[in-house]
Amino acid sequence: MSAPNLIFKALGKIRCAQGYAAAASPTSGVRQGSAAAANGAARHINGNHGFHSMYADPSKNGHAVNASMHHPVNGMPAEGVLDPMPFPMNSAASEAAPAPEAPQLAPAAQRKELRELRLGFVGWGSMAQAISLGLLQKEVTIPEGLMVSGRRQEVLDMAEKEGIATSLSNQAVAEWADIVVVAVKPQVVSTVMPDITRVWTKDKILVSVCAGVTIDTFLDTLGQDAKVVRTMPNTPCLVGEAATAYAGSSQCEDWELDLVGSMFSAVGNATHRVPEHLLNTVTGVSGSGPAYVYMMIQALSDAGVHGGLPRSMAISLATQTVLGAAKMVQESGKHPIVLRDSVTSPAGTTIAGVRVLEELGFSAAVMGAVQAAKTRSEELSQTSPVGGASKSRPRSRVRGRRGN
Ligand SMILES: NC(=O)c1ccc[n+]([C@@H]2O[C@H](COP(=O)([O-])OP(=O)(O)OC[C@H]3O[C@@H](n4cnc5c(N)ncnc54)[C@H](OP(=O)(O)O)[C@@H]3O)[C@@H](O)[C@H]2O)c1
Repeated sequence: MSAPNLIFKALGKIRCAQGYAAAASPTSGVRQGSAAAANGAARHINGNHGFHSMYADPSKNGHAVNASMHHPVNGMPAEGVLDPMPFPMNSAASEAAPAPEAPQLAPAAQRKELRELRLGFVGWGSMAQAISLGLLQKEVTIPEGLMVSGRRQEVLDMAEKEGIATSLSNQAVAEWADIVVVAVKPQVVSTVMPDITRVWTKDKILVSVCAGVTIDTFLDTLGQDAKVVRTMPNTPCLVGEAATAYAGSSQCEDWELDLVGSMFSAVGNATHRVPEHLLNTVTGVSGSGPAYVYMMIQALSDAGVHGGLPRSMAISLATQTVLGAAKMVQESGKHPIVLRDSVTSPAGTTIAGVRVLEELGFSAAVMGAVQAAKTRSEELSQTSPVGGASKSRPRSRVRGRRGN
C-alpha cells in the first residue's frame, strides 16, 4: 500500500458541513471533489491533550532553567530545582532570535484568519497530505478552502474524495490560492516555480516546506517584494503532533508570520519562529527526527522479539514507551536527564542498559545523524537554484536571518 493510501486509511473520511464557494477560475481546469460539504463533523484521531491547558498559562511558559542550580554530584540540574516549564512548546519569536527591527502592522481590518483564506498545495505527497488533512481534522479550514495540484490523477482522486478541489495545473492552484504551499521535493522546486511565478501577485504568501530551499531562492524568482515563509514541519502533523519551525522574508508582516505559524500550531504542539539559518538544524532534529524515532521503536521491538515477545506485543510496548517518555518530558516539565536519572537505580537494570547504549555510542550516533541531515539540508540550499523567468535579481534582506 502506498504512503498516501496509508495516510488515508489512517484518517478515514473527513467531511465538513459549512458552505464555502471554491472560487476556481472557470478556465483553470479545476475539479471540485464530489463529496464536498457533506454533513457530519470531522473525525478526530486524538482526544484532548492534557498539556494544552498546561501550556496555555502564559505565566508558566517560557521560563529558563536556573543555571546556578545543579545536581550536587554530576553537575546536572537537580530534580526539583528546574523551572516547571523549561520547554516552551510554541514561540512566535524564539529566544535564539533577536527582536525584529520594527514591527510592520497592517490595519486590523486587513488581517485575516486562516479560515478566510484559500490554501493551495503545489504537490500533494506525504507532507502536503499530512498538513492539509491535519488542518481539516482540526477544523481550522474546510475542504472548500483547499485546492491541490499534482502530476497523477489517482493522487488527485484521493483529494477529491475528501472534498478538496484539484488540478493537474500548478498554475491554476497558484492563481486561486491566497497562500501557496510548495510541497514538492526540493529538486522539483525549479520545475514548479515558473508556473507559480506566472500568476504571482504580491498579496499572496508562499509557504515552502522544502528542505534546504532558501527564502532567497524563492525571492530570486518571485521578486524581492514577495512574501515567502520557509518552514520545516514533520509528518506527525497528520495526527496533530507536528514539530515545526519557520522563518519569513522581510516583506512578511508579523501577523502574516503568525498566521502561517498558526497553520502549523493547529497540527502540532511545538511551533517556533527561528532565524532562517537554524532551519537546517531543525531539519536534522525534527524534520528528519521521526525516522530516527521509528528506528528506535523498531530496534526496541526487535529486542523484544529476540527476548521472546510476539512481534505485535513488542511493537505495542515499544511504541507506548516512546510516547509515554515523550509525554513525561512535555507534561512534567523536567529535564530529560533528570527523568533518566529517576529511573536508573543504583546497580539496577536500567543503568546496565544505559551503560551499553553509551558504550555503543548511542548519543554520538543520534547527534551524528542530526548533523548529517543538517549538512544535507545545507547542500540542498546550495544546489536548488530555481529556473524560469526571474522577476528581479538583487537580493533583499531575509527576516529569518535577522531573527524572525
Ligand atoms: N516527508 C517528510 O517527512 C518531510 C519532512 C519535512 C519536510 N519535507 C519536505 O516536504 C517536501 C515534500 O516531501 P514529501 O515527503 O511530501 O514528498 P512526496 O511524498 O514525494 O510528495 C511530493 C509530491 O509532489 C508531486 N510532484 C512531483 N512533481 C510535481 C510537479 N511537477 N508538479 C506538481 N506536483 C509534483 C509528487 O507527485 P509524484 O508522486 O507523481 O511524483 C508527490 O505527490 C519536500 O521538499 C521535503 O523536503 C518532508
